[in-house]
Amino acid sequence: MTIKLNHTIVNVRDKRKSADFFSEMLGLPKAKPFGSYFLGIQVANEVTLDFCDADYEVEKQHYAFLVSEKEFDEIFGRIKKRGLDYWADPRKSQKGEINHHDGGRGVYFEDPSGHFLEIITRPYGG
Ligand SMILES: [Fe+2]
Repeated sequence: MTIKLNHTIVNVRDKRKSADFFSEMLGLPKAKPFGSYFLGIQVANEVTLDFCDADYEVEKQHYAFLVSEKEFDEIFGRIKKRGLDYWADPRKSQKGEINHHDGGRGVYFEDPSGHFLEIITRPYGG
């Protein structure tokens, strides 16, 4: 199988604000403009997240990132430094906690448009 996810559009209220949030929080290079509508951020597995201003109510999506232990420390440090809410679970019942699923660490937080972000150090079932 050679099919790879290449890009997806992330509809947001403010593409600059959300793209900056993603790149700053995840420690990725600043987004690059693509055409007149998109700001693209590429992650390590070549997938590009194309941020686009939505002219309608943004439907909240879930984006999960597999990160190293070091990256987890860095990103989680930024979450705490900014005073963002975070949860150990997708139902948001364990606020202010992280999880240890699959022998790793995981945590959920939100972007400025309300997209539900997750960082994990082990893939599900890994
Ligand atoms: Fe998830």
